[in-house]
Amino acid sequence: MIAPAQPDLVTVNIDGKEIAVPRGTNVIEAARLVAIDVPHYCYHPKLSVVGNCRMCLIEMGLPAVDPATKAPIMDPASGKQKINWMPRPQIGCATNVSPGLHVRTTTPQIKDCREGVMEFLLINHPLDCPICDQAGECKLQEQATQYGRGYSRFVEQKNVKPKRTPLGPRVMLDDERCILCSRCIRFCKEVAKDDVLGFIDRGSFSTLTCYPGKQLENNYSLNTVDICPVGALTSTDFRFKMRVWFLKQTNSIDTESSVGANTVVWSREGVIYRITPRRNDAVNDTWMADSGRLLYKQVAAPDRLSAITVQGAAGTLASAAAAASTLFQAGAVAVVGSGRSTVEEQFLTKQLAATLGARVSLVSRVGQGDKILISADRNPNLRGALVTGLIDTLPSAQLAALGAAIEAGQVKTVVAIGEDLAAAGLTAAQLAKVSIVYLGTHANATSVAAKIVVPTLTVFEKAGTFINQQFRIQKFARAVPGPAGASDDLAALSALIAAAGGAAIAADLPAIWAQLAAEVPALATMTYRNIPDTGLLLDGTPWSALPFVEGETLHYKPAAAPALATA
Ligand code: SF4
Ligand code: FES
Repeated sequence: MIAPAQPDLVTVNIDGKEIAVPRGTNVIEAARLVAIDVPHYCYHPKLSVVGNCRMCLIEMGLPAVDPATKAPIMDPASGKQKINWMPRPQIGCATNVSPGLHVRTTTPQIKDCREGVMEFLLINHPLDCPICDQAGECKLQEQATQYGRGYSRFVEQKNVKPKRTPLGPRVMLDDERCILCSRCIRFCKEVAKDDVLGFIDRGSFSTLTCYPGKQLENNYSLNTVDICPVGALTSTDFRFKMRVWFLKQTNSIDTESSVGANTVVWSREGVIYRITPRRNDAVNDTWMADSGRLLYKQVAAPDRLSAITVQGAAGTLASAAAAASTLFQAGAVAVVGSGRSTVEEQFLTKQLAATLGARVSLVSRVGQGDKILISADRNPNLRGALVTGLIDTLPSAQLAALGAAIEAGQVKTVVAIGEDLAAAGLTAAQLAKVSIVYLGTHANATSVAAKIVVPTLTVFEKAGTFINQQFRIQKFARAVPGPAGASDDLAALSALIAAAGGAAIAADLPAIWAQLAAEVPALATMTYRNIPDTGLLLDGTPWSALPFVEGETLHYKPAAAPALATA
């Protein structure tokens, strides 16, 4: 594990509480550290500061010093240094802490300011909270209740604006609800690097829109929905499907690439309704790609495998293991592991291969990186395969070697774990020459050709860990149960190990982590439970000479120029 660097601290006083905070922190964030809420709309910790909503007003003062001598001016009444309070309130989002800064957030003046700002924001805001998708997570609703006047003095007609303007294929705008905070505009420009949104018209007629001829269609467009503090932007996939307060939140990891963006899976009664990003400042800040949000659809995909089969007939895990045992006894077994498997599954895959004396191949999966949160390595856990010792080099062209071995008659049985061998480059003729034991979630050419098929679980239906491109081990939890007929991956692997003649292994995370900690040096002091929600950075130096394919992403810089993709 690698210890994080210590920040440079300054001491400030917020509502009478002294606190040391990192230099450069603004007042909103400093107050958050002492559990003081400074309400805000336009400020977002990962975007530039514009200061346009005025909701974050605070009173601020600095210790008084004699202008000539710079000596502190003391207050005889308190015996402490006098504080020079500014006559007018300041915005907390644009005020960075400085040594001795004093802040007041609860004075009558600040209460009056907040009520005034809320009143302006609500003048043209429609009264459609009961049918608004943002209900339950709406900052305007929450802060109107907490900081608003509690009644309206507005007797005029509200502006009427369009209620359903598609900004792109995945984002719908309700113009009336927009409070013109500009978060969505700044996100597109600063993070997605797609400067596609802007305001037109003036005053109460100001409206968010796309530039002429453009659409909000980049692969990060749904982050605008997440950061919109009101219900102006909604996801076309999620809107009107479910009230958020009914949904259970489960921490998960985006499996699209080796970035490992942290996510939350929102589900109810075994059904997933949406995936949103989870803040991890070391990995994905507060963002994720749109493509990763749709991965939950694989759970109920029509081609999902849900029944164990042995030679095409219905079976059980025990009968599948018995049939596999017969194949294993003939020898000449090869194992194809997966960079999509969890660390725990890769560890058991290694044990299976060792018990069988089998060669191990891993499927390389390389695409185009987008320099944000999709990396060139599309395996979420290639580093896991290295750390657990399943492989000791990058998986370039290894399936070609397996194909040649099959051609040469050196392999009789292939155990494919979560990988479609045909998609990975083996020909139909090669597949026809071997007996295949397939563990996987969806039907494909390999499951069709396999003698034994054991349906397993998607990432949403199990718990485990992945190691991302930074060598950060991150855990995820089970969000929903798997389909009836699917086996837990660890149970299926453990049954195969027993079928191969290996020692029985308890197929649960604590037991496997006890073994991992004992046998894998990089994980020596760890348990599944003590991995923090934001992950732990492992020492990746033993593998630093390997030519990983990733280029730069949001919080990752390759140590050296990446090698050319080889698969
Ligand atoms: S749509 Fe939402 S995020 Fe964009 S400016 Fe309006 S209120 Fe802000
Ligand atoms: S948060 Fe909008 S002005 Fe500070």
